[in-house]
Amino acid sequence: MNINDNLYIGLDIGSSKICAVMCDVKQDNSIEIKGVGTSSSSGLNQGDITHLKKLQASIKQAIARAEHDSGCTCNKILVNIPALGLEFIHNTGLLVSKSETGQITKSDQIECIKRSKNISYPSNKRLLHAIPLLYKVEDVAVQSPIGVFGRRLEVQSHLVLSKETVLSGIHKILKDINFSIKGMMFCSQALTQVLLHEYERSQGCFLVDIGGSSSKISFIKNNRIQFSVVTPMGGNIITKDIATCLNISFSEAERIKILYGSLALNCINPQETIDILCNKNGRKKIKLLLLCQIIESRVRELSNFLIKKMPLISDTSYNIVIGGGGSLQKGLLLFFKHYLNRNTRESTLDLKSIMGNTSYHTAIGMVLYGLKTHAIAYHPVKNPFLKRCKQWIKQLY
Ligand SMILES: Nc1ncnc2c1ncn2[C@@H]1O[C@H](COP(=O)(O)OP(=O)(O)OP(=O)(O)O)[C@@H](O)[C@H]1O
Ligand SMILES: [Mg+2]
Repeated sequence: MNINDNLYIGLDIGSSKICAVMCDVKQDNSIEIKGVGTSSSSGLNQGDITHLKKLQASIKQAIARAEHDSGCTCNKILVNIPALGLEFIHNTGLLVSKSETGQITKSDQIECIKRSKNISYPSNKRLLHAIPLLYKVEDVAVQSPIGVFGRRLEVQSHLVLSKETVLSGIHKILKDINFSIKGMMFCSQALTQVLLHEYERSQGCFLVDIGGSSSKISFIKNNRIQFSVVTPMGGNIITKDIATCLNISFSEAERIKILYGSLALNCINPQETIDILCNKNGRKKIKLLLLCQIIESRVRELSNFLIKKMPLISDTSYNIVIGGGGSLQKGLLLFFKHYLNRNTRESTLDLKSIMGNTSYHTAIGMVLYGLKTHAIAYHPVKNPFLKRCKQWIKQLY
């Protein structure tokens, strides 16, 4: 199998599926997707690892498929931490600079960010990200504090905390299969790189990732996540609602949700029926409108949650970008457009081929985010012929 220094795997550990993407990093910091692999997720429940071996088997399977698809192998990986169970806190760091010139220095900035991480949190939590959002020098907001005259530096950071058990579990699984971990992150960090336009990242927008067991909502501005919230209202809860209301199995509920479900209620003929397989009575006909009303009531609840947690979401100056498997629900985009904000759009930009498939967005985004934050970088490929020439010359003299 092919191996080179510039191959990285982006691994998306989701509650429904695990996706691995083999990426080749190019000199201009672009990536070439060499292959992809998916497996169904197991060993996870509500953001906790409930069966380490099962989770390891699912991860191994997704990676093996990506390796097989690409004909490449690699030992460097970037991975997300399941979002349920993450905690988001804002904290301020303060520092009085002692620099001789009276200007704020790079080391003042680093120390101040370090202080903003200084919060007390339970021993079962660990800091995943500290994102500096706003700097102030002598109470005046500045974009970058370095070189600004003043003594009193303040930084407000967005801190993301993860459960220690989950971080250690994923760490162990990947170490056991000989991977060097180049980044562990909150999935929305990755998605910002794939789903958002440059202007949306800088001028502000909302990113809503509707997954299986959760929905992740972030407000992004100035190229940073400013605020995030995670709710257990993902696609699976809609499927469970359908299963409970219609007394059918989860898999049958999932089938009819995807096949017939729609949020465009006013386009549905109230007399139209569909066939379903009930737990007790075998096949039965139900009104299609009933199925769609069940879906709509949960999506309405999710929308109200968004408005409550992020009142700015109704501000039409900010786009809402929707991603994740749940965003594929028919009529969802129009529903959000009417309910929340007129500037709602689907996640797919002008993404071609595999990038257009929502399943791989997070995994690809992780490699892009790693490049952006310099956690990973292109390594010049050594020319084997030149290397051999050097060895001959060395042997001669
Ligand atoms: N065509 C579709 N219509 C409606 N819902 C869909 C469709 N395709 C997938 N879904 C739903 O998307 C959800 C899975 O989304 P996704 O694959 O993004 O989850 P995940 O990344 O594994 O989970 P999480 O991000 O919560 O850990 C499921 O609830 C599934 O029912
Ligand atoms: Mg996901």
